[in-house]
Amino acid sequence: MGDTLFDTIRRMHGEQPWGRVLDAGTGAHSLRWINGLDTQAWTAVTGDPAREKKLARELGGAVRARDEIVTGNWADEAFLNGEVFDTVLADYLLGALEGFAPYHQDRLFARLRPHVGKRLYVVGLQPYPDGIVPGDGHDTEAGRLVLEIARLRDACILLAGHRCYREYPHDWVVRSLQSSGYAVREAVGVQIVYRKRFIDGQLDVCRRKIALFRDEALATAMTAHVDELRTRALDACARLDGLRFASDYVIAADAV
Ligand SMILES: C[S@@+](CC[C@H](N)C(=O)[O-])C[C@H]1O[C@@H](n2cnc3c(N)ncnc32)[C@H](O)[C@@H]1O
Repeated sequence: MGDTLFDTIRRMHGEQPWGRVLDAGTGAHSLRWINGLDTQAWTAVTGDPAREKKLARELGGAVRARDEIVTGNWADEAFLNGEVFDTVLADYLLGALEGFAPYHQDRLFARLRPHVGKRLYVVGLQPYPDGIVPGDGHDTEAGRLVLEIARLRDACILLAGHRCYREYPHDWVVRSLQSSGYAVREAVGVQIVYRKRFIDGQLDVCRRKIALFRDEALATAMTAHVDELRTRALDACARLDGLRFASDYVIAADAV
């Protein structure tokens, strides 16, 4: 997530103390941010034990004894039983749920509710417009390139036999929060400007997935295609000063 999203959360939070914080779907970006806040203590959750180890290694000595990174699954009703946090962050967690607890998306906010003492922040990607609805805004050079990258990434993930993320729109999230014991206080959309890091990151996912293809000829052709798209996208990114397309959302909700 870009710093604009964290800045939005800071603004929404105002002068309230952060207290005890839960990063309900952790990663290097959100955890570094939380680790820099004035918190009483934090718990960071991942569904992936390899990510837990990597984050612990990366943060190293910067972590206080009262802070912890844990692996678990929100589909497990007993996970973190009885633990309550003043502030909970669900940063790109909903979209990733498909990989760890598919078909539980409608239960996520109710599942988190007993752990939310005061405030929950949800950050997510508004699903990309895909050109199926005319005039949906995809038809710019930046839009076409971002969609081409996203489709290629998902094709590679599927051909490797893995599951793709599934994003949910902001009004779906608002509805789900309202029926799960929260009052939505504020919701904002933030325009995305994709840069080299995104292009390389997504196309590196393709490279890693291609290594798992069974069909060697397909793998060779796909690699050439990935490299060609990388060149084209990086060129457009430099020329256009970033690829402006789609938006993220930040939603602040209080436990009621
Ligand atoms: C896309 S990453 C979040 C990005 C992260 N906040 C960052 O700043 O890099 C999604 C995280 O949610 C975790 N996750 C997804 N589904 C989960 C589930 N059902 N239970 C626990 N963790 C889950 C993943 O393991 C991963 O740590």
